[in-house]
Amino acid sequence: MRIRPETALTFDDVLLIPRRSSIRSRHAVNTRSPFSRCITLAIPLISANMDTVTESAMACAIARVGGIGVIHRFMTIERQATEVARVKRAEGFVVEDPYSLPPNATIEEAREQLAEHHIGGLIVVGANNEVLGLVSARDLMFERDPERRVTEVMTPREKLVTVGEHISLEQARDVLHKHRIEKLPVLDQSGQLHGLITAQDIVKQEQWPDATKDSRGRLRVAAAVGVRPSDMDRATACVHAGADALVVDIAHGHSDNALNMVRALKELFPNVDVVGGNVATADGVRDMVEAGADAVKVGVGAGSICITRIVTGFGVPQLSAVDECAQTGQALGVPIIADGGIRNSGDITKALAAGASSVMLGSLLAGTDESPGATVIRSGQRYKIVRGMASLTANIDRQEIELGREVDPDDWERVVAEGVEAMVPARGPVKEIVYQLVGGLRSGLSYAGASNIPELWSKAEFVRITSAGKAESGAHDVQTR
Ligand code: XMP
Repeated sequence: MRIRPETALTFDDVLLIPRRSSIRSRHAVNTRSPFSRCITLAIPLISANMDTVTESAMACAIARVGGIGVIHRFMTIERQATEVARVKRAEGFVVEDPYSLPPNATIEEAREQLAEHHIGGLIVVGANNEVLGLVSARDLMFERDPERRVTEVMTPREKLVTVGEHISLEQARDVLHKHRIEKLPVLDQSGQLHGLITAQDIVKQEQWPDATKDSRGRLRVAAAVGVRPSDMDRATACVHAGADALVVDIAHGHSDNALNMVRALKELFPNVDVVGGNVATADGVRDMVEAGADAVKVGVGAGSICITRIVTGFGVPQLSAVDECAQTGQALGVPIIADGGIRNSGDITKALAAGASSVMLGSLLAGTDESPGATVIRSGQRYKIVRGMASLTANIDRQEIELGREVDPDDWERVVAEGVEAMVPARGPVKEIVYQLVGGLRSGLSYAGASNIPELWSKAEFVRITSAGKAESGAHDVQTR
């Protein structure tokens, strides 16, 4: 039997020691940090690739505040690609390939499209993609006859204000204001539809200055893939839909399957960042980087909904895992993502202080308005569901998606679950909880005397604490309300 001499630690085993600080205010610190080799975040937060955490609504919300979301893979390939595309279309200076209708479309069809894509207007185009008009939700609002053609209610081409391809943001803003309009079709030299500028997109650009965006002003998003041969099709569909990064999502990432997948993805998509994981050792990081990973996700059994350590006996307490992996990651120049077990802003600061470049959040974000799934009421309180992706119900749902039919309940007992189903309190919008988390992190950086995350790495000093120290750390000896 081999036993490592040192004790492995996790978040509650330690505290950070306050250092002399010349930071004047929490706002004087910089939280920018890499997600992967080519993608930098204004705040080092990632929403987890779980089906109770990240679909397009979460990915948009977290990218707007400066993080990034990873769209989970527990859905059909087509649906995952659609979710990615939704994020890429959510904003951008010019919406390329805007939703459109042919002139023979009916009012009913237009209403369906507006509802399906959550948009306020559609461009009507002819057979050669020439703009014929624009139909907006307002044009349809009180229309009684659903069978009428959209051409009868649209604003026709001759009354439309349009612009050419090379317009600047400022010019577009002025045109929208001058004509008091909200949508501006962009036409190429031959009068064909090139794109659409909307007032809402311009407002959003000003509202979210820290948003994580690509060179075309679109929100960035990552997509999770597995390691089966069909996952190459999944990856291809997501990249074509605009995914900025692919995350190889497998519980035991230090395996030939995962390493081969990372290698194959990098070969096929050399310009897309590939994140490998999950690992918990320096060897795991080294092998991932050698396979071509542009970031490595660290955490085995640390998640709030994980029972891997109970079921298999394997795992490494998260703070020590991050520490060991980050030393190798930093030496090789590849960012480490601390994934699992983060419960508050203090844990975020500790994970970063241990050497991570960013943290992935699951149940901490599962209770927000933007997570998938409905709110449930229990004893008068509002909750949302969160479940491990290796839980019983997630396993069965996955099989049903793959088989295209229901799994016989007699087969349920064949599932060996490594995760649980649970509820978390409903928490309101992502931006509110992120504000609190980032506020705590900023404060943490100033306690360390660090003006940015790399400085935190070099200045942080941890102290181990006892259970008495832990009890002293929370509110104590008072009646909390
Ligand atoms: P938190 O603590 O943020 O953790 O909720 C989220 C991370 O947990 C991992 N995950 C699982 N791990 N069994 C596991 O052992 C599971 O069923 C499971 N589902 C999610 C995953 O790394 C996620 O990001």
